[in-house]
Amino acid sequence: MNAVTPINREQRPYSAAAQAVLARKPALFINNEWVASSHDKVIEVEDPSSGKIISHIADASDKDVDRAVAAARAAFDDGRWSGLPPIVRDRTMNRFADLLEAHADEFAELEAIDNGKAKGMAAAVDIPGAISQLRFMAGWASKVSGETTAPYTMPAGAVFSYTVKEPVGVCAQIVPWNFPLLMVALKIAPALSAGCTIVLKPAEQTSLTALRLADLVAEAGFPAGVLNVITGNGHTAGDRMVKHPDVDKVAFTGSTEIGKLINRNATATLKHVTLELGGKSPVVVMPDVDIAATAPGVAGAIFFNAGQVCVAGSRLYAHRSVFDKVLEGMAQTGDFWAPRASLDPEAHMGAIVSKEQHEKVMGYIEAGKRDGASVAMGGDAPSNGGGYFVNPTILVDVNPQMSVVREEIFGPVVVAQRFDDLDEVAKAANDTCYGLGAGVWTKDVATMHKLAAKIKSGTVWGNCHAMIDAALPFGGYKESGIGREQGRHGIEAYLETKTVIIQL
Ligand code: NAI
Ligand code: MG
Repeated sequence: MNAVTPINREQRPYSAAAQAVLARKPALFINNEWVASSHDKVIEVEDPSSGKIISHIADASDKDVDRAVAAARAAFDDGRWSGLPPIVRDRTMNRFADLLEAHADEFAELEAIDNGKAKGMAAAVDIPGAISQLRFMAGWASKVSGETTAPYTMPAGAVFSYTVKEPVGVCAQIVPWNFPLLMVALKIAPALSAGCTIVLKPAEQTSLTALRLADLVAEAGFPAGVLNVITGNGHTAGDRMVKHPDVDKVAFTGSTEIGKLINRNATATLKHVTLELGGKSPVVVMPDVDIAATAPGVAGAIFFNAGQVCVAGSRLYAHRSVFDKVLEGMAQTGDFWAPRASLDPEAHMGAIVSKEQHEKVMGYIEAGKRDGASVAMGGDAPSNGGGYFVNPTILVDVNPQMSVVREEIFGPVVVAQRFDDLDEVAKAANDTCYGLGAGVWTKDVATMHKLAAKIKSGTVWGNCHAMIDAALPFGGYKESGIGREQGRHGIEAYLETKTVIIQL
């Protein structure tokens, strides 16, 4: 980076609306009411741009979890939500989206303060994305239906047989900190549309927007107990949710390690499970590309959200003939992606979410260097204030055995490698335990389709990256997850199929 004047990374003042949220007493949202935890344990809320403690949230006890599950159970069992006409569920969800839209600026600011991401990005991506998930899924409330299917082995008219779609039941939904509100919306939207009831737990690092959203639940018209929001730690509150006998389904987004643990724990009572986990997504740049258009796209694939994206394009494979030019082009975006305080209007990349994650990212960069990697850009943390900033980083001279190439770093760090032919790069792209996303950059339609077929991942992007849409299924191959979210697949994950066979 060669910024002429040094960047002032001091956090900007918070708005009055944000200050009011931060001043609130820790509380849990159960049965459409704010209630105190059964014990007085709290979790500190930190602004990653300054490292300062700015508020506290409740660390839900086992009793609190049980209370929230009981509320969701009762709300499910008496049909106060699933029994409503689909048009009412649809309208309630759209009203919820309207309220969110009306407070969009406040939500973007809270997300920026809590997570460290640039407010402008939260306003452009996270909040509209959350609204879009709610609106898209609202429409499915009236579109899901069973079928009348004639049996294979019986004469016509012997029986009348049909299937019905029913909501799965009480859902425990656990989300991570990288896109806090968007992940919340992605989880609750299909569940609500299907008629399920929910206990939602945002990540302990970033619970503010989920709590603020809970304010709008009753106003939107959801009956009590349909959407309960509790805050707390994963190994305590999250664990209790996953093991609770009154929970029918667990939906989780987060690390592959915890996803595996949750899958094991949910097995005891054979709960339905959907998991959206880690990634080490490859980005392939073919020799025919327009470098001026491709290099910024490839840079954005890793530096957007400071690389804290499950589909971050963290392994770059550029054809030998264009490798140097692609890296040059990426380096030119260094000033654009230079980390700034999250409320700085010029920020595109903010801070890393926490000290722990900052140390993890810097640790990987150090490990890469020890293993023989060279730094082509960044590789360091700007020293100022107490914020958790990392400069956008490109590592070269890497090999497939290095931890920086194999493991999810979850920071603005890309490892760049050269390749010569299509089969070689397809093999390299698939040399990972993950399979969440992949990017292919080429003007050649045949090459695009060949690579799309060869790469084992839930999504393949062509000449773009991390494009997400509520109508398009999203999920992972291999250790990147189980099941799909969004689209028709997304709603089906919250439905049971009942077969009714009546002898006539
Ligand atoms: P994590 O997987 O531990 O946390 C995600 C969510 O799971 C949080 O809400 C947490 O409270 C909950 N949780 C944790 N342990 C639990 C348990 N035993 N039972 C039930 N719920 C539990 O992720 P963490 O520790 O925040 O980050 C570690 C690494 O995970 C990151 O460095 C990154 O590599 C990866 N990660 C991947 C994400 C993705 O979108 N794929 C999102 C966040 C982190
Ligand atoms: Mg963890």
